[in-house]
Amino acid sequence: MDAVPGVHLRVGQLHSMMTPPPPSDEATRKRSASDFVFGKVIGEGSFSTVYLAKDIHTNKEFAIKVLEKRHMIREKKMEYVLREKKVLQILSGCPNYFVKLYCTFQDTERLYFVLTYAKNGELLSFLNKKGLWNIECTKYYATELVLALEELKFKEIVHRDLKPENILFDENWHILLIDFGSAKIVSSNEDKIENEDETKKRKNSFVGTAQYVSPELLKNTETGYASDLWALGCIIYQMVSGLHPFHAGSEYLIFQKILKLEYEFPENFDKTAKDLVEKLLVLNPDKRLGATDIKPYSSIRQHEFFSDIDWDNIGPPPKFI
Ligand code: ADE
Repeated sequence: MDAVPGVHLRVGQLHSMMTPPPPSDEATRKRSASDFVFGKVIGEGSFSTVYLAKDIHTNKEFAIKVLEKRHMIREKKMEYVLREKKVLQILSGCPNYFVKLYCTFQDTERLYFVLTYAKNGELLSFLNKKGLWNIECTKYYATELVLALEELKFKEIVHRDLKPENILFDENWHILLIDFGSAKIVSSNEDKIENEDETKKRKNSFVGTAQYVSPELLKNTETGYASDLWALGCIIYQMVSGLHPFHAGSEYLIFQKILKLEYEFPENFDKTAKDLVEKLLVLNPDKRLGATDIKPYSSIRQHEFFSDIDWDNIGPPPKFI
């Protein structure tokens, strides 16, 4: 006899009705824009807009990066989008220091990247404001940056556009790096054999902030992990002084200064931080501190600036707001 008159169920059917779908069904279900409520704009780039968005099913907040397909195709930027997706997928197994890519989807006009929402904004806004930012904060966040760069190197990725705008803070005030559109995957053949044309294309498509670009990137020579070490030097300089090491009235003049290593330290600049910056801001990428280290950046870890850091347990971030 049927349990409910007129409804015929086979055993397998009944079983599938009784047991809830395994969690992976929900986790792997293809999302669309209608799964989210889109809120305010939290970031804008030349080719994308980032929105704060809420998953309507879980109420969880995400940062959703939206790219207009037509614009990307017209400007020939599709390879950068695909690169960013690939890098974010490679980094998705890293629990710290990088935004996580939860999923991607598209509609007829747009591409969507669903990312970790970094609640506490950009490092840049705290460097500009100064406030309680001090040498202790610089040391802590320089340490997190070194750990993030070690992880990137371990995954064979060069960020190539590291700057305070691309360093965000999560809800616990740990850093999260974003914006991997300019990144290079060292092990990937397409990147390894970057021919002259491609190098020229990369140089001409430079849209980043001039202040952090390495001399080798400007000179069109091979860029590697050491390009991120140059940016680290610029960022530490800025964290200590609130100023850019290379500043001038135009991008062209900034590039000239970078190529001539023309910069100075303010008088009251912390002495050990100065020594560290001088060892990172070296024109020859092979001579930069850390450039010849194998896995961890041991020579950076051993620098006097980090003498009181326990690299295995860096502890909680200092208060600075
Ligand atoms: N701006 C750009 N990306 C962001 C993110 N993941 N979280 C917060 N603000 C952002």
